[in-house]
Amino acid sequence: MSGGPLAAVLEGREVVVCAGSGGVGKTTTAAAIAAALAAEGRRTIVLTIDPARRLAESLGLPDVGNEAIRVPSERLAAAGLAGDGELWAMTLDAKLTFDELIASNAPDAATRDAVLANPIYRQLSGALAGSQEYMAMEKLYELHAEGGYDALVLDTPPARNALDFLDAPGRLSRFIDSRSLQVFRSSGRAGLGFFGRGAGAVMAVLERATGVDLLRDLAEFFNAFGGMADGFRDRARAVEALLASEVTTFLLVTSPRAAAIADAAYFHGKLDEAGMPFGAMIVNRVREPVAAARGEALAAELEGLLGAPLARKVLRDVDDRDSLAARDAANVERMRAELGGAPLLAVPELPGDVHDVGGLGAVAAELFDRS
Ligand SMILES: Nc1ncnc2c1ncn2[C@@H]1O[C@H](COP(=O)(O)OP(=O)(O)O)[C@@H](O)[C@H]1O
Ligand SMILES: [Mg+2]
Repeated sequence: MSGGPLAAVLEGREVVVCAGSGGVGKTTTAAAIAAALAAEGRRTIVLTIDPARRLAESLGLPDVGNEAIRVPSERLAAAGLAGDGELWAMTLDAKLTFDELIASNAPDAATRDAVLANPIYRQLSGALAGSQEYMAMEKLYELHAEGGYDALVLDTPPARNALDFLDAPGRLSRFIDSRSLQVFRSSGRAGLGFFGRGAGAVMAVLERATGVDLLRDLAEFFNAFGGMADGFRDRARAVEALLASEVTTFLLVTSPRAAAIADAAYFHGKLDEAGMPFGAMIVNRVREPVAAARGEALAAELEGLLGAPLARKVLRDVDDRDSLAARDAANVERMRAELGGAPLLAVPELPGDVHDVGGLGAVAAELFDRS
């Protein structure tokens, strides 16, 4: 199961981050790689964000988040992924992770309860841009620190921008240090003065929040949260350090479309700039040429079978598919040149969606056996 350049990239890595634009196959790839690592004998967990319903069902994932479940070995074996390891999966819930983070950072139970019960806090995860990205990496960090798994594979959130999550720890630190937060902290039982200051994310919360105790809630929340700022800041730094360390590797997932390839190339550069360890580029859903011998013989056979008009239509369709395949192949080669020798894996468009463990086995076979 595990040969080729991707196996070499993953060798000795404990954290594998699958990143890329939305809809390109991050969740699928992350789950397939985790399954392959498990088949290789590692105790592996895939942290997924938005598994398609049928994939979640196939893995046996419950609806509620942050619960590690083990995918039964028999199910993996049936998909050609038999091995001595274990595959675990978890659907990340940003809100739950935030709650856990508050609980572990709060100086005492009273502060913890005050923050968790605070209406402002309940609105915050939406207002704090990038919190989902941050919380995904927070969970990753926590599980890595606990040491319960040999390998953690993170499926990153469907960010508006694939780069968002890279900046998430920094953004949390900036939020903590932001002027608006300082205003709330220093104003104690806050006066109305700060309303005029246009305090960005905070104002967005204000707009949505209602109730007579608003100001008291705000002051209480920001005082308690602000008191945990150092803890959060340290934590954000530790998360960043883990991502940049040699136990981590980033896999970029892209589709073979020209625009996606351009995005992925840009992201590759940014990753490098940020000092994050790039492992491999995965070009997913590459359309392949129709594998039939061409020429007069085929045309004659089709015509005999279907009649001339339909045969012509089929042949035209075959040509169309071949030219799409040629376009994809050219884009893959462009990306290969861009990478200058770094590994690139091309995964073909498989017939039908990849919605179960069997499909993951097929993707894993493409990732590890060929190319
Ligand atoms: N190689 C492939 N062949 C066919 N379908 C695929 C392939 N990879 C992914 N898919 C399908 O594409 C859709 C999007 O994949 P997903 O992994 O959820 O993307 P993302 O997590 O990047 O948004 C899913 O329906 C999945 O089954
Ligand atoms: Mg996804």
